[in-house]
Amino acid sequence: MSAKSGKFIVIEGMDGSGKSTIIQMLKDELITQNKIDDFVFTREPGSAFSKEAEKIRNLILDNENEFSHMVDALLFAASRRLNLEKGIWPALQSGKNVISDRYWTSSLVYQGILGGVGFNEVKSINEIATNNTKPDLIIFFDLEPEMSVERITKIRGEADRLETDDVEYYHRLRAAYKEVIKNNPGQFKVINANCSIIELFKKVLKILKEIEVL
Ligand code: TYD
Repeated sequence: MSAKSGKFIVIEGMDGSGKSTIIQMLKDELITQNKIDDFVFTREPGSAFSKEAEKIRNLILDNENEFSHMVDALLFAASRRLNLEKGIWPALQSGKNVISDRYWTSSLVYQGILGGVGFNEVKSINEIATNNTKPDLIIFFDLEPEMSVERITKIRGEADRLETDDVEYYHRLRAAYKEVIKNNPGQFKVINANCSIIELFKKVLKILKEIEVL
């Protein structure tokens, strides 16, 4: 891969931490600032640039399907690869910044640690699947597990295959994120999402300014 000129920013977070809302606010802000053309937004699993990746997304989230955690890890990696080939790599190469709602940290956490596939195994799968394409920065929206459950039960209707309202699960999820972050602290900015959405948005804007994306 040739040298990249755009920046690759990933947003990860506890369920209910406000990821989707903040990303929408960021899009609106960039439109207002007339900078939207310098950015490409993506979310995982799936890809706005690949109908095949969207098919993999549907396969993954469909309640009727049963996959082992290893198969999940491979499907997420396949979806990620399609998104890189069709969306992320071309955008970065043309000098655009990419903002992705989730990336391989999610696989390390959900499949590697929580699913028991193994951190190193999922890391290897993803290094191969992505040609080791590391984000420039991963912003993690941290939230107390109790808050996660409170917020998602308010917001969501029916759960998809990967969702639950078990608070214990969110304790394990948060611990898994913390473990991954501890492994590579330089790659992450952790922000406390237990605040108003406006406050959270300000924190995100500050970080993006610091790394000269805004
Ligand atoms: P989605 O409906 O896109 O919602 P959100 O990102 O707002 O939670 O669901 C994606 C689900 O997939 C989510 O439960 C996390 C999970 N996931 C993994 O298990 N591994 C991964 O590699 C990725 C990208 C997501």
